[in-house]
Amino acid sequence: ELGPYSHFMQKEIHEQPRALTDTIEALIDDNHFSPALFGKNAAAVFAQVDSILILAAGTSYYAALTAKYWLESIAKLPTNVEIASEYRYRESVPNPRQLIVTISQSGETLDTMEALKHAKALGQHLTLAICNVQESAIPRASELVFYTRAGAEIGVASTKAFTTQLVALFTLAATLAKQRGLLDAEAEQAHLGALRQLAGSVQHALNLEPQIREWANSFANKQHALFLGRGIHYPIALEGALKLKEISYIHAEAYPAGELKHGPLALVDSAMPVVVIAPNDALLEKVKSNMQEVKARGGELFVFADADSHFTESEGVHVIRTPRHVGVLSPILHTIPVQMLAYHAALLKGTDVDKPRNLAKSVTVE
Ligand code: M6R
Repeated sequence: ELGPYSHFMQKEIHEQPRALTDTIEALIDDNHFSPALFGKNAAAVFAQVDSILILAAGTSYYAALTAKYWLESIAKLPTNVEIASEYRYRESVPNPRQLIVTISQSGETLDTMEALKHAKALGQHLTLAICNVQESAIPRASELVFYTRAGAEIGVASTKAFTTQLVALFTLAATLAKQRGLLDAEAEQAHLGALRQLAGSVQHALNLEPQIREWANSFANKQHALFLGRGIHYPIALEGALKLKEISYIHAEAYPAGELKHGPLALVDSAMPVVVIAPNDALLEKVKSNMQEVKARGGELFVFADADSHFTESEGVHVIRTPRHVGVLSPILHTIPVQMLAYHAALLKGTDVDKPRNLAKSVTVE
């Protein structure tokens, strides 16, 4: 079953070009973004929507945080994102025109299911589930559904489910934008073209594995690591930190790089490697100055850049570049290196990569 791979996690990381292609094919209907992809009644539901609330847990929550950037910038819909287990226990202000989006690989996560029930009990009936398992509990309880086509994910650490969720969410943003008259034909074709090229770029990123394996040596013997990103890449820093702690048991945190000076800079020293997600986007110059703050305090930087982000390696600054900048889909591409970094750090530590201690693949208890 594992083929040439040592673990399901490694296999699932490498299955991403296929998983993404399958999901994208399901999403591109006749060379257009069409509401019908989200369910029969989607156009009517979307027409009522004035804002979005996304509920999820763990990695799926980080997909939600990424989606907020797309939904607000492309579809211009105010979007909130909440951890499912928090939302269900607080008094919120219901809005019947808000689309409740749940994201769950398994479709069985109790926290997310209960959050959905809570929303419905408050009278929020516009619901969409993004899920990887057909006919699981969460899609069954939702009016609209989109199934990612990642295939069965066995490793406890979510990998291909996450990147396919991101594709589904990007498509949701583009579809809502189109329905709202905010996406002209040219922009629609540009987004479709970017989606079609994504799997190829992901394959190139996977080819960076030997270099990333080298980097893992600098993490496996450390107690702590810090992940930095800005803007839409901040959730990818969060995901990188979660992957590392989950499977290698190395304590890792993520911060939006601009927050460094408001506290975490005090932690920086040569014993804590700092990973930076730094593709060539509008915030790159800001990220570079945040990197200077780390370097000046003796921190060692491990930078994931892309072909267009101009960096020079120097003492204490290591750089790995993805082969090209993929624009608005960049967070999907930049997920691949942080997955591989966590995987190789865990291998060096000899932990149980596919079944990390204390964790279950599907969390059906509170
Ligand atoms: O099946 P779900 O997407 O609802 O699962 C949510 C989390 O339990 C899950 O993403 C968890 O955080 C993963 N083990 C992360 O790799």
